[in-house]
Amino acid sequence: MVKGRTLDAAFHISPKEVALELGGLPDHKIHCSVLGDKALRAAINNYYTRNGQEDKVKQEQVKVICQCMNITDHDIEDAVLEGARTYFELQERTKCGTVCGQCKDESEALLEKYKHIHFGA
Ligand code: FES
Repeated sequence: MVKGRTLDAAFHISPKEVALELGGLPDHKIHCSVLGDKALRAAINNYYTRNGQEDKVKQEQVKVICQCMNITDHDIEDAVLEGARTYFELQERTKCGTVCGQCKDESEALLEKYKHIHFGA
């Protein structure tokens, strides 16, 4: 997939594109396409670092959603990719929202967002 692309274009390959290139993936295997695209971005950043082009390294933004359990938006996305479809399933997998509960609304919004992004649900 990356042959013939610039590093910048390769950096932006999405998990959906990886899954399409593979002819589709069952829902419970979507996480594999995400791992592939994360590994590619890490490799590109590593190349930039090793070749004195640190200014081109792109940092991923991570936001802590649940302060009590230190759960980030990436943790919630991973939980969705691993099968969480309801808030209860998200809590089971991450423990998000199991202390004060103040993160519930934002966690539920992200749950719906990632379900839509990865599964069109
Ligand atoms: S902020 Fe998530 S349980 Fe308190």
